[in-house]
Amino acid sequence: MRRKLAAGNWKMNGTAEALGEIDAIAKTASGAEAEVLICPPATLIATAQGAAGDRLLLGGQDCHAERSGAHTGDISAAMLKDAGATYVILGHSERREDHGEDDEDVRAKAKAALDAGLKVIICVGETLEEREASNTLDIIGGQLAGSIPDLVTAQSLVVAYEPIWAIGTGKTPTLDQIGEVHDFIRGRLERRFGTGVGRSTRILYGGSVNPGNAAEIFGVSNVDGALVGGASLKAVDFTPIIDALSAAK
Ligand code: PGA
Repeated sequence: MRRKLAAGNWKMNGTAEALGEIDAIAKTASGAEAEVLICPPATLIATAQGAAGDRLLLGGQDCHAERSGAHTGDISAAMLKDAGATYVILGHSERREDHGEDDEDVRAKAKAALDAGLKVIICVGETLEEREASNTLDIIGGQLAGSIPDLVTAQSLVVAYEPIWAIGTGKTPTLDQIGEVHDFIRGRLERRFGTGVGRSTRILYGGSVNPGNAAEIFGVSNVDGALVGGASLKAVDFTPIIDALSAAK
């Protein structure tokens, strides 16, 4: 009932020469049971359309909260949509850290994205200090409450749990720790949006997912897919992750 989602976040990586990877990932996507999404740099979204075809979805990595205006260097949700995006990642910890984005900013951006007809992948996650102080669930609860706007549906919202200390480090939480947070997020979504929306909304895990650990992570309850950074850049790494997700129960 929840369609699995394998999402790749290319971050600030990729120029036109990476279109061959899009092409190869699109080939895997056409045979996959899971939905497959790549969020390349915004400069590649329009040019990647041809290689992506119908089966590989493309998305943005951030958008501005305003529709248009004097915001040099920023990109609006409507611009992403116009370039062919269907999703946008919002509140990634690198945006929260590098650009000082807080929950209120993320919520405003999410509203703008939904208004423009994009689906949103809202990222939440704790620092290592917060985990070691046993504050993980409080932090996640606060981020969910603050970052997700009221007007979401199970179709338009995806939540990504990305522990900050696991991003790009090769470290991952234990399966029990992942399960605990995903169950908690599911509970919060049900409480706020009702069981219908709460149960149908997809929750992704992100942070050092690779071909070697994907299958066991996808076996954890309430893990509906992954948001993958480094291992989504090359089809040779991303393909086994997509396959593991399609094979997961
Ligand atoms: P990683 O990044 O897979 O390279 O750890 C994940 C992310 O930041 O979304």
